[in-house]
Amino acid sequence: MSMPAALSRLALPVIGSPLFIISNPDLMIAQCKAGIVGSFPALNARPASLLDEWLHRITEELAAHDRAHPDRPAAPFAVNQIVHRSNDRLEEDLATCAKWKVPIVITSLGAREDVNAGVHSWGGITLHDVIDDRFARKAVEKGADGLIAVATGAGGHAGRLSPFALVQEIRQWFEGPLALAGAIATGDAILAAQAMGADFAYIGSPFIATAEANAAQAYKQGVVEGRASDIVYSSLFTGVHGNYLRASIVAAGLDPDNLPDGDVGTMNFGGGQAAKAWRDIWGAGQGIGAVDAVEPAAERIATLARQYEAARRRLSLGA
Ligand SMILES: Cc1cc2nc3c(=O)[nH]c(=O)nc-3n(C[C@H](O)[C@H](O)[C@H](O)COP(=O)(O)O)c2cc1C
Repeated sequence: MSMPAALSRLALPVIGSPLFIISNPDLMIAQCKAGIVGSFPALNARPASLLDEWLHRITEELAAHDRAHPDRPAAPFAVNQIVHRSNDRLEEDLATCAKWKVPIVITSLGAREDVNAGVHSWGGITLHDVIDDRFARKAVEKGADGLIAVATGAGGHAGRLSPFALVQEIRQWFEGPLALAGAIATGDAILAAQAMGADFAYIGSPFIATAEANAAQAYKQGVVEGRASDIVYSSLFTGVHGNYLRASIVAAGLDPDNLPDGDVGTMNFGGGQAAKAWRDIWGAGQGIGAVDAVEPAAERIATLARQYEAARRRLSLGA
């Protein structure tokens, strides 16, 4: 299968993943200008009418960048839609994405044929995130163009499977665009994801510690100071297992080593409970040990690119 045009002109094979509350137009525009796919969850634009303003601004700023830098055009952007019954904005947000012909829609927490068909109707493509091969097959059956394999150690909702197991099982039958997520935080690891059989690295947590990210300073600092052993895997906060910073759980008065199971009913993405969980309980993946400063996203991406090229040279893959 050939790579969709939207994904074939990246400076680095990376998708900056959507981060609830944290991703905003500033971060996404910086990612796209640096040549990686930038994204944000539609739900970060509150109220829903703000999504139209965000997409207007993003479209204009990226077009201006392309006019000024025809030699290094911006990468395409993606909007994340939570396809879960608690998301009562889905139809309205999809209509806004249709208006702006959003090039890539990342769907999570539910695969729906009508959503994929809707995105295709305006020429967009869909990438669906999955934690195992069974969900991957379902997503492709329902019309997803590409897959995001979320392996163990990923920030936020995460799977339990080894990235090696996940990629090799999906690659036995799927030739389309495949991104791999889970603790990827260096250029070396981006190359490793490709060596395993993925086309792209899907990177979230390292972008929390950027100047543009909409996160409290203490959260950004927690990512800078944290190591893999500071990450706790729990279903308590949304009913779905995910990875969170231990310090934020302690600060909420809970014992990170004795957390009860959560209830899927608490995953109310319409607001209330879930928003609170993500605001106070800080999602982060096991890759944060590689992050040692809060810096502009462009600098983080430049470092990833340098490391990626160095890793290629080390393995004699050419520059
Ligand atoms: C704080 C936080 C919020 C997230 N919010 C979302 C979200 O709204 N939608 C989504 O599809 N994934 C979300 N994710 C998951 C990421 O998109 C991605 O799978 C993950 O960050 C990749 O692993 P990494 O953090 O180890 O790079 C979130 C992750 C984090 C850390």
